Amino acid sequence: MKIPVLDLKPQIQAHRAEIMAAIESVIDNTRFVLGPEVTELERAVSAYTGSKHAVGVASGSDALLIALMALGIGGADAVITTPYTFFATVGAICRVGAIPIFVDIRPDSLNIDAGLVEKCLTERCEPDAAAGVLRDRISGRLVRAIIPVHLFGQCADMDAIMALAQRHKLFVIEDAAQALGARCNGARAGSIGHIGCLSFYPTKNLGGFGDGGMLTTSDDSLAEHCRILRVHGSKPKYYHSRVGVNSRLDSIQAAALLVGLKHLDEWTRMRREHARTYTESLKDTHGVVPPAVLPNQHHVFNQYVIRSNNRDALRRFLAEREIGAEIYYPLPLHLQECFSQFGYKKGNFPESERAAEESLAIPMFPYLTVEQRTTVTNAIKEFHKK
Ligand SMILES: Cc1ncc(COP(=O)(O)O)c(C=O)c1O
Repeated sequence: MKIPVLDLKPQIQAHRAEIMAAIESVIDNTRFVLGPEVTELERAVSAYTGSKHAVGVASGSDALLIALMALGIGGADAVITTPYTFFATVGAICRVGAIPIFVDIRPDSLNIDAGLVEKCLTERCEPDAAAGVLRDRISGRLVRAIIPVHLFGQCADMDAIMALAQRHKLFVIEDAAQALGARCNGARAGSIGHIGCLSFYPTKNLGGFGDGGMLTTSDDSLAEHCRILRVHGSKPKYYHSRVGVNSRLDSIQAAALLVGLKHLDEWTRMRREHARTYTESLKDTHGVVPPAVLPNQHHVFNQYVIRSNNRDALRRFLAEREIGAEIYYPLPLHLQECFSQFGYKKGNFPESERAAEESLAIPMFPYLTVEQRTTVTNAIKEFHKK
């Protein structure tokens, strides 16, 4: 039985008629870019996350870029984030001219370690009286923001991060690309920091039929900035107060995403059930650590990522049995060639480096069958018995 790591076909099939009708209605009304479906999706996502505003953009990567631009973060600044994330988080920081200050992850959740953020803020940074914020002693840059990433569908420790941010006058940009619907102490991902960034890339819990993204915020002025920045910085049309970007959400994507949003809670329930049975089945397997769900966290399992003490061989073993498995992520960002100018070395972030060597995402999608699930766990147990 071939089991891909992600199979979207059964999910699309289950809602095909509804999706096709929604897409056809856009084709009929011809408002293809930022049309009424985009406005409707923005209202629906803001209600879903509990943020006052939502602003549709072309991708999650652009959401991060526009969030940084809207906050005025640029060439004199530094942003604290995790090295164990998808490239876009740090790519956006660099694209506005700022630099990343990496802080290692917790070994259990694989999210940024708030205790180490505090250590970084107190040991590596010093107050800058003129700017009224902290300055990084190493780079000389002003430390303006933290980007916690809610990796694999579980929020970072937002209470601790928000408390640190308040104390040190930092903005918090939540990278909630993988975590729509996740909650931390009851608050929905994307609604906790100053601004949240969502992705509708097809592999996400709410995925479109191409690229798409959204910003969420309860700050009126930030929302307005984002709306202006996504259309080349223009308001009114053809009058530009800032240089923005072309990052608009297509109406066809919004129409399909509106259908998906109606089913998102059911899909999340299905994902959580797969995760529960995976963990139940794997918890006593020697050499395997199932993902941890921390207290007060509602995990939405965009990915189900185990740790294995023989990861690469396990992946090959699964591939021989036609079971898909992916490595998220094989090289932490502090070791990427394009960031070598920041001077980080192997050994700087041991937990991120260990996670990159041990982590393996196994098949996870709403319409995974019981038979598929059992085949996956049996294969993992068989491998680790050897
Ligand atoms: C953690 C994280 N941040 C940002 C992004 C960027 O989103 P997109 O692919 O929509 O640009 C992604 C997803 O791809 C992601 O997983």
